[in-house]
Amino acid sequence: MVILLPGLGLLALLGGTALLAWRAWRRRQHFAPLRRLPSPPGLPLLGHLPAVLAAVRRKRFFQLLHDWSQAYGPAYVYWAGRPVLVLSRPALIESAIVQGMRSGCLIRSPAMRRAWNDMRGPILIGEEGAEWQWRRRSWNPGFTAASTAAHLPLLEQASAQVLERIAQAPAGQAIALDPLFVEMAMRVIATLMLGIPLQAGAESPEGPRLDVARAYQAMGVLGRRFFRMATGESPWMKYLPTRTSLAYWAARRQLEDLLAPRVALALRLREGNAGEEAGLSPLFRQSLLVRIAAREPRYDQDSLLAETIEFLIAGTDTTAHTLSFAAGTLALHPDVLARVRQEVDQAWERHGGLTPACIGALDLVRGVIRETLRLFSVASGSTALQVVKPTHLEGVGRVPVGTTVTWSMQGAGRDPEAYPRPLEFLPERWLPGGPEGPAPPMIDFGSGPHRCIGEHLAMLEATVMLAQLLRHTTWELVNGPASLENQRQNLLIYPADGMPVRVRRRGEAGWS
Ligand code: HEM
Repeated sequence: MVILLPGLGLLALLGGTALLAWRAWRRRQHFAPLRRLPSPPGLPLLGHLPAVLAAVRRKRFFQLLHDWSQAYGPAYVYWAGRPVLVLSRPALIESAIVQGMRSGCLIRSPAMRRAWNDMRGPILIGEEGAEWQWRRRSWNPGFTAASTAAHLPLLEQASAQVLERIAQAPAGQAIALDPLFVEMAMRVIATLMLGIPLQAGAESPEGPRLDVARAYQAMGVLGRRFFRMATGESPWMKYLPTRTSLAYWAARRQLEDLLAPRVALALRLREGNAGEEAGLSPLFRQSLLVRIAAREPRYDQDSLLAETIEFLIAGTDTTAHTLSFAAGTLALHPDVLARVRQEVDQAWERHGGLTPACIGALDLVRGVIRETLRLFSVASGSTALQVVKPTHLEGVGRVPVGTTVTWSMQGAGRDPEAYPRPLEFLPERWLPGGPEGPAPPMIDFGSGPHRCIGEHLAMLEATVMLAQLLRHTTWELVNGPASLENQRQNLLIYPADGMPVRVRRRGEAGWS
């Protein structure tokens, strides 16, 4: 007995080691097709996990993916527990999303979906199949090009408010553009979605006032929670009494206080409670919330609340940061700025202001926005795919089940095949019938069925804001190119310094 026990222990140890070795061998065999793809040097056992975690901590994760794509080409693999295939050529990304999902070999990453749906409850971007379809169908009519065009007066008013805020700053004082754009974008989506008046401080009878700073802070907390969940945090962690989870619940409550009364009211209107209508503002009665609630009986208080939070988040930072990078890039390219300004001046004068016809003539402004998105793809990290059936990806080869497929949007935006002279800022490449031939691929609003529903709104909003800035002001970057280079990257990409500028009214004495 005394001799047997150590013998058994040794046997168990050997058995365990053999099992682990066998499993490692099986895994190696399973993922062998990926080993022929380039891969950055990694550590034994840990692979690339330390490098990835360090980049996430420094808020430079997308930069890391981009640096690797520069070094290892348009399809490379890194290992972080599981293999992750990173694509950085627009054609490869589109084909993986569209063909891969159509064939059923790739699905949207379950981890990302869980992270989206656990932010406040199931939402459009986190859903699939029938659950996604009825949601998307109910919102689509509110975001077509035609229905978005009807918001031109609102967008003009919102951008005029930004100009007013700039004008209030003492002459020569630096002013951060990004917070101004954030406020504008949030007020716009809150007006459209919830019928909250655009004007800061204005009351509405349907619920509390919008406090932009508080709401933005709460959205940031939810966004960071999404990011933690997407990178491996368990859903139950939010129930632990930690500072992070307390902040999460506080942020949720804050947004719910703003939104829940309006959602409840919209649902009561759906039930035909005519008595409720008296005293409601026209803005609220025309809001997307009321129209969607009326159209889609499957929404209840909880699900509509979650969706409203999603739209508020999705519609704020994305457009705002794009505008900041556009203004920053223009400041560094006076030749481009002069050409775009000329387009704005001519269209403005010909059409007597920011009319629909004037907006229609601003192709180069739209080119600036697309070119900015190509170089600063603000929504780089919203999703990834998972291989669930063995597949053969175009330009990559065989990809085994269990591989995560993701992309470097910065890498894709600098792909010389898709965008000749990729490092130059050339908005003309987006002109209809432009110098480079047919329009290049535009993947920064996503691809496939989940492509951004707010694309028309974002494009129109950014066009109106840039046109106003170009028409009425000139600006210079306080921190020069550093404002564009020094980015923070977590869920989105944004300028770390808030894009401070010195702005002057055009034509003022001493101004160019
Ligand atoms: C420059 C601005 C914007 C950019 C770059 C952008 C980018 C994207 C991208 C890449 C996706 C696809 C995500 C995926 O496949 O999972 C997406 C989806 C989405 N976007 Fe945007 N977006 C912008 C503005 C907006 C605005 C203004 C709204 C609000 C109306 C919005 C609402 C949404 C929603 C709700 C989805 C999910 C759609 C679905 O899953 O069917 N976005 N966006």
